[in-house]
Amino acid sequence: MLAKDRIILALDVDTKEEALTLVEKLRGHVGLFKVGMQLFTVAGPEIVNHIRDSGGSVFIDLKFHDIPNTVSESGRTVTRLGCAMFTVHAAGGIRMLRTLAEAVKDEASVLNIKPPLVLAVTVLTSINQQILKEDLFIDGMSVQDVAVKWACLAKDAGLCGVVCSPLETAAIRAACGHEFKLVTPGIRPKWALKNDQMRVTTPAQAIKLGADYIVIGRAITRAEDPISAALKITEELEEVEGELDVK
Ligand code: C5P
Repeated sequence: MLAKDRIILALDVDTKEEALTLVEKLRGHVGLFKVGMQLFTVAGPEIVNHIRDSGGSVFIDLKFHDIPNTVSESGRTVTRLGCAMFTVHAAGGIRMLRTLAEAVKDEASVLNIKPPLVLAVTVLTSINQQILKEDLFIDGMSVQDVAVKWACLAKDAGLCGVVCSPLETAAIRAACGHEFKLVTPGIRPKWALKNDQMRVTTPAQAIKLGADYIVIGRAITRAEDPISAALKITEELEEVEGELDVK
């Protein structure tokens, strides 16, 4: 895989026009474009079609969490949209995850297309030990232990990988093996602002720690020159190529 293909650009903007301007500018410099709730709720499935029509690959990050039937039918619709990856919450339980994995496989085979990677969101990076205990009522386990357990649940259900903190990648990699895809947000190059992200790593650190893909938003989209920011990150990733090659 080329280093630039490991970069997932988060299109966290409010309008189709802003999103497509970024896609136009950065298409050749990143691997995928992430359409999350903010953009999808204003621009809808159309934005996915637009990005695909202009040659971009799409990660639909809607983090499904509902009963098995609703989630698996939604998995079929995003598969029909032709995205390369999408997300679901591992906390929905194994029945929901398994039903979803089977539905996506089935839908892709009916359409005769490559199925999208279904990724489970483990513990959100905004959740710390205290919130886990006081708000989610999960006591006696560390955030990392819960993330690893949910990653294993996702793997058992037939999912392709997880979204996790770069700081949890080593433990999840050890538990789930090398084929399992690890996607990590919370990435900040040394030269970028931290914004509201607390626990961050640099792009190179994330890949060294075992991530397959890194999600980057503002460090590129709000840079004075987004293309040169993307190129700088790619260079940084290429520097750890030795480690990338063995994966
Ligand atoms: O701008 P920035 O690089 O912080 O954007 C990070 C992206 O990753 C956002 O789209 C955010 O929703 C997403 N994300 C995150 N932390 C998580 C899960 C997703 O920052 N735990």
